[in-house]
Amino acid sequence: MSSLLVDNIGELVTNGAGEGPLGIRRDAAVLVEEGRVVWVGPSAYAPPADRRLDAGGAAVLPGFVDSHAHLVFAGDRAAEFAARMAGEPYTGGGIRTTVGATRAATDDELRATVRRLRGEALRQGTTTMEIKSGYGLTVADEARSLRIAAESSTETTFLGAHVVPAEYADRPDDYVGLVCGPMLAAAAPYAKWVDVFCERGAFDVDHARAILACGQAAGLGVRIHANQLGPGGGVQLGVELDAASVDHCTHLSDADVDALAGTAHSDGSGTRTVATLLPGAEFSTRSPYPDARRLLDAGVTVALATDCNPGSSYTSSMAFCVALAVREMRMTPAEAVWAATAGGARALRRDDIGVLTPGARADLVVLDAPSYLHLAYRPGVPLIRQVMRNGVTP
Ligand code: NIG
Ligand code: FE
Repeated sequence: MSSLLVDNIGELVTNGAGEGPLGIRRDAAVLVEEGRVVWVGPSAYAPPADRRLDAGGAAVLPGFVDSHAHLVFAGDRAAEFAARMAGEPYTGGGIRTTVGATRAATDDELRATVRRLRGEALRQGTTTMEIKSGYGLTVADEARSLRIAAESSTETTFLGAHVVPAEYADRPDDYVGLVCGPMLAAAAPYAKWVDVFCERGAFDVDHARAILACGQAAGLGVRIHANQLGPGGGVQLGVELDAASVDHCTHLSDADVDALAGTAHSDGSGTRTVATLLPGAEFSTRSPYPDARRLLDAGVTVALATDCNPGSSYTSSMAFCVALAVREMRMTPAEAVWAATAGGARALRRDDIGVLTPGARADLVVLDAPSYLHLAYRPGVPLIRQVMRNGVTP
């Protein structure tokens, strides 16, 4: 059994025991065996190991956990982005453009896009990335989207209910029947989660409840796109169905915040349903940002994710989302870094990632900086010097 010691870490973010909310340790070392963290402590007292990685006094963090991304698609919508920047509103209407391109693509074309974006994210420190379907919207195209997604992630999500495709425009009930029946049956073997875009123009609360309940009955965990473009019942539906995460949360009522706060664990460790904020979407659609402070002050567990997709947020950079959360949403740098690591893990109901404590997966990043603060302080700068996933450098 070969061991690896990462030592000479100036600032180690553990998200466990240590200083402050990030569990910081200074002049620290991490011992890795068989892809797991087995020891964390002062560099000066580190046990011997077969190999050594000298962090050179830099900061080391858990790898980012991006719990919301749509990577299986073809084409792009750069012209739609340009039109938005010239004043057009975002409505989600462009989803159908991507559905057309995705259906016309070969498996290898879709696979190449997923691999390219997954690799892009990995180089920027994302060691876990959820991947949704949702641009196929036929039984065969949703199943192949998830089959391809599953080649790159174990965190795969069936989003057959992204929009009602054009051929079902005048009979949405029939489309819901297709999603709950043959489409779910074909998708479920490759999916861990089920998701619905619950929004005006997509699926209403009753349709969303029906689809999520079918997914749950098929053994999938629940997550939901909720309250992105306007107020609605999506967040409270997520709470009702014990969703791991309600995502976007841009337009919340007091009752929505109370419902999320009501899922608090009794041990004070936050809420069972996480609010995942996707500031890349507000940036790229020039929309008001969600009120992160209101959620945090109510005790709601908050995650940050990219929402990487060709329409509303074509970024794979978690560091960019951290910077936006700090500058535009008034999260502290510590809150934002926690949300992008441990928060994402909570949104996926995982306790083996997002932390650097004994027993956790050895997924970490070495920054080209002395502190995690630089992720927000130096926006747009490639600060990821080294990435380790499962104890190996990919
Ligand atoms: O999460 N809101 C729904 N789905 C995506 C956008 C998809 C698109 O515009 O292609 C989102 O923002
Ligand atoms: Fe999304």
